Amino acid sequence: MNVMRDSHAVATQAMPDGQTVLSLRHWDDRLFSFRVSRPVGFRFRSGEFVMIGLPDENGKPVLRAYSIASPFWDEELEFYSIKVPDGPLTSRLQKIGVGDKVIVRTKPTGTLVLDALLPGRTLWMVSTGTGVAPFASLMREPETYEKFENVLLTQTCRNRSELDYGADLHRRLMDDPLVGEVAAVKFRRHATTTREVSERMGRITDLIESGRIFDDLGMAPFDPAHDRVMICGSMALNRDMKRILDARGFTEGANSRPGEYVVERAFVD
Ligand code: A2P
Repeated sequence: MNVMRDSHAVATQAMPDGQTVLSLRHWDDRLFSFRVSRPVGFRFRSGEFVMIGLPDENGKPVLRAYSIASPFWDEELEFYSIKVPDGPLTSRLQKIGVGDKVIVRTKPTGTLVLDALLPGRTLWMVSTGTGVAPFASLMREPETYEKFENVLLTQTCRNRSELDYGADLHRRLMDDPLVGEVAAVKFRRHATTTREVSERMGRITDLIESGRIFDDLGMAPFDPAHDRVMICGSMALNRDMKRILDARGFTEGANSRPGEYVVERAFVD
């Protein structure tokens, strides 16, 4: 720990873009979230990601892509991370404390933005694991509720404790001064586990193919005429969701060419 603090001190002096950790929470032995100060003048669109990290023992930055889990208007930046015991970044990032510095590069990018979707009626945000992070941003974004009548967040995880962060996001959303009222009407969360028994079980892909999720939520099956889908999960989920949507006539969108769905990989693994 002392060694890390020493290297921090060196890096903080050398790196003017170090942001201060303001709060953090460990959700279980594999997941944690934290909030840092916002770099002065930093602008991004809700749903985008940035490179963040820590200096190594030589002061050289070790950076990874992280979705910003707070909306564009928030004074702080939130991130949600897994802890990989021997991961070059997360093995050390998981040990940060309030007051420590984290490098935040201020070049946001990403395709999980509202501008990359054509107008529609229902927005589906489909995630596995830490892929929920960009949706933590978009679910607090007023424009999300201006553009869509229904906003549905799905998250599939192996175990129940991995769903705690999403459950907390949902609670915080209901208390949100800006969008809480409209979200109470338009937003719903559908969380499932695959390896531990819980209230709702199964991979989201299976629940879509069987039609179960549409029954559960009282929604009509996917239709490119009015459904829009944002996907953020493992490579396998992203691939399977693409296949499901392509087979139903959806077209993939991008910043330069809006479409009926967009996809991005959940980064740190
Ligand atoms: P499963 O337990 O059936 O593999 P991981 O921790 O491996 O990233 O997985 C996170 C969650 O995503 C797990 O619940 C896992 O289910 C699920 N998952 C993995 N692959 C797919 C896929 N191709 N489609 C849907 N869900 C998937």
